[in-house]
Amino acid sequence: MLDQQRDTVNAAVNEVLPHAIKMRHHLHRHPELSFHEEQTAKFIAMKLEELGVDSLQTSIGGNGILATITGLQGTGPTLALRADMDALPIQEEGESEYRSERDGVMHACGHDGHSAVLLGTAQTLCRLRANFAGTVRLIFQPAEEVAAGARAIVDSGGMKDVDAIFALHGWPGMDVGKIGIRPGAMMASADTFDITIDGRGAHAAMPHLSVDPIVAGAQVVTALQTIVSRETSPVDSVVVSVTQFHAGSAHNIIPGRAELKGTVRCLTSELRQIMPERVERVVAGVCGALNAEYKLNYRFGTPVTINDERMVNLVREVGAACLGEENVVQLEWPSLGAEDFAVYLGHAPGAMFRLGTGAAKPPLHTPTYDFGDEPLKPGIEMFTHLALRFLRGQSAA
Ligand code: NI
Repeated sequence: MLDQQRDTVNAAVNEVLPHAIKMRHHLHRHPELSFHEEQTAKFIAMKLEELGVDSLQTSIGGNGILATITGLQGTGPTLALRADMDALPIQEEGESEYRSERDGVMHACGHDGHSAVLLGTAQTLCRLRANFAGTVRLIFQPAEEVAAGARAIVDSGGMKDVDAIFALHGWPGMDVGKIGIRPGAMMASADTFDITIDGRGAHAAMPHLSVDPIVAGAQVVTALQTIVSRETSPVDSVVVSVTQFHAGSAHNIIPGRAELKGTVRCLTSELRQIMPERVERVVAGVCGALNAEYKLNYRFGTPVTINDERMVNLVREVGAACLGEENVVQLEWPSLGAEDFAVYLGHAPGAMFRLGTGAAKPPLHTPTYDFGDEPLKPGIEMFTHLALRFLRGQSAA
């Protein structure tokens, strides 16, 4: 990176920072749940219009927004940058002056920060149009928390003609000014299953007259764990978690039905594809042995988030240049959490990186989490430099 370019970007970032901080506070104060981001989208669209983006489309895949900023150096590829906008159904317990004004809803995953970083980046890139060729597409995505927004954006044409895409996620437990990334699997797939076990109800004192769905369900729960421990290679990672088990209504009645729900996480698409068969075989076998009927509804949700190696190298290179080599953390392990950014990666190479929000911060999705103001600067720097680097590097080729 040329020193001159770094100075130009630094000056632009420092100029937009106070505005980005204000915008984040506004978003944090007015959180909205997945698919209900109307006011958030309205605010973001208004800000983008003020900044003078070249095109602006609203109501994309629900409350999504697509905007473009075109460089003045001529035609070139299209780079997408994505932020999510939705909040969570948690009562905020933080003490900040900008804490949530909406009861029971808060930005506990820091999407206020992601949106503010992208708005700040929009502002710097509008000022730096003379420094790149091609187009930056800004994607403000709804409904990430319910893993539906990315699909809705893609289905609405949001990835058409996109050559590469980047996103970041604020990461507590990592110092501000650091980023973390790895090539390949970054986050897991997240699929879900619903199992209904039908037996025959009876008096609890006469179990021989019943087909007990609780006993069958209990064995299904433990047998499902053998998919991980006995059927999956010990060096592969799979999670099968039964997270709900509902049955019964009294101390002395064997119920007729039990309902189980859960999630399956994988780090490769190959393993993911064979999991429904494995789950069904175990459920069918156990229920068959115990004379119970079952229904299985297995749904594929979010794919594995697989970072493209070339894009990861670009993030590292840019990170080392603007944050310092020592602040680019090579993540040893992926997370078995999921992120619907994976859906975009099915349409163009890209990468998602973690952006440190503070080593002492409470975890994501807890009542006192706050993205904070400090990570905005490194976030905007990273996005701005990535856009300039990608669009310059590509156009020069
Ligand atoms: Ni999130």
